[in-house]
Formats: sequence, structure tokens, C-alpha cells
Amino acid sequence: MLSSVLIVANWKMQLSYNKSVAYIQTYRDDLRTLANSHSIVICPSFDALTTISMLLKDTPISLGAQNVSGHSFGAYTGQVSALSLQEVGCTYCIVGHSELRQYNNESNEQITQKLLQLSLAKITPIICVGETAAQYHAGETQNIICAQLEAIKNASQYSTFDTIYIAYEPVWAIGTGKTPTTEHISMIFSTINNYLNSNKTLYKLMYGGSINPENIESYCAIEKISGFLVGGASTDFQKFKKIVSLINKAR
Ligand code: PGA
Repeated sequence: MLSSVLIVANWKMQLSYNKSVAYIQTYRDDLRTLANSHSIVICPSFDALTTISMLLKDTPISLGAQNVSGHSFGAYTGQVSALSLQEVGCTYCIVGHSELRQYNNESNEQITQKLLQLSLAKITPIICVGETAAQYHAGETQNIICAQLEAIKNASQYSTFDTIYIAYEPVWAIGTGKTPTTEHISMIFSTINNYLNSNKTLYKLMYGGSINPENIESYCAIEKISGFLVGGASTDFQKFKKIVSLINKAR
């Protein structure tokens, strides 16, 4: 049986500003109903955060960012500080998404810096870890995940987070329709728990990668799963609603 989980909609750069705002205006009441049993976090692109924050005011739906700067302020063109995210109403932030690791060469050290900034701004992190297809086939999954977890361990020593969400997102499962078995996810969860055994209540584990209405029920059965990171399917409200309804049914 599933207890309350965090369901995160990562819209990436899929919806324009107008489309993002229209989505919330159209479905705000439905989202409010869906958020009865579980926590829902909407992560639009930066430009839409302020407007969506106003639209979500007085609802149980939370706002999240897709990235944050590792610096507090200064001459960092194109970056957004944790303080700005806090000021516009973000209470969550995705960190270390594989698309940033891949396209922006984001390193584990940079992820540590971003986590420290979020800690100062009291924003809960959702940190993505996961291996590429090549690493998976070379049997390197565990080593890669542990190296990524080191960044989290380093930051958590100096941070004041109540909760740190860690989303296992195998790179080969993101946007591909390919998904790992529930046994594989459980095995990765054990690796993460063993590696971070210093404070198990601090860390909550999530899964993300090609989640859709057809496969969500099998993921709900994974022991101690605390959340889901939904990409493509979250930009289609009917699919997202189905996913959240099926999670609600699994309670
Ligand atoms: P996907 O993306 O659901 O489209 O595979 C998940 C993610 O990248 O967070």
C-alpha cells in the first residue's frame, strides 16, 4: 500500500509561456481535486514561474523550478538564483537532471553547490541520478549512481534540509518509452539507501523515466517509493490526471 507521495510534473521546455498559463487556468480545479491525497508539484520553465505562482496561490499545489544557479548572486548571465526562486514562491527545485548533466556538462561538484544554495533558500531539492544506456550495458550503474550520490552526501553535511528527494531516472528511460523493471528500481533503491545510510529519514526515493498511465501501477508497488517524476506525460493533462488517479487508487 502506498502512503502519501510526491508527484512532480517536469514540463521541461515543452510548453510555451502561453500554453503553460492556459494549462493551469484550465485545469486548476481538477488539479486541486487530484492533490487531495498526494502532493503535486508543477515545474514549468523559469519564465512562467511568477504567473503560475499567482494562479496556484491558495491551492494545495506546489511550485517547483527545473534548475537553480550554484551561485548566490552576481555576474552569471542566464542563471537564476535560489533566492529569486524562493521570492516567486518555489518550494521545490529539480537538480542534476540528466539533460543538464548531458547538454550543460553539469558536474557533481556543481550539483553540490546548487544544493547548498537551495538549502539557504529553504527549497526542497529533487535530485536526479541515473546511468546512461552505455553505462548500464557496461555494468557500471552502481558506480555511477554512487559517484552522483557523493555530491548529495557532501551537500547534506552542510545543509539544513528536512527532506531530500532523490529521483532515480535512468537516462535510457527518459522520453524513450523504455522502462526498467521494478526489481531493477528496487535494487537501485537499496544501493542508494546503503550508500546514504547516515540518515534514512532525510532521504526519500522517487522514480522517473517514461512514466505513463499504462505503467504507473507497477511502480506504485515498489516498496517505500515516495514519489514520481513525470516528464512528457505531465504536459498532457488527461494523461497526467490518469496517472495521478491511478496513484490515488493504489493508496
Ligand atoms: P519522461 O521524462 O517522463 O518524458 O521520460 C522524465 C524526466 O526527464 O524527468
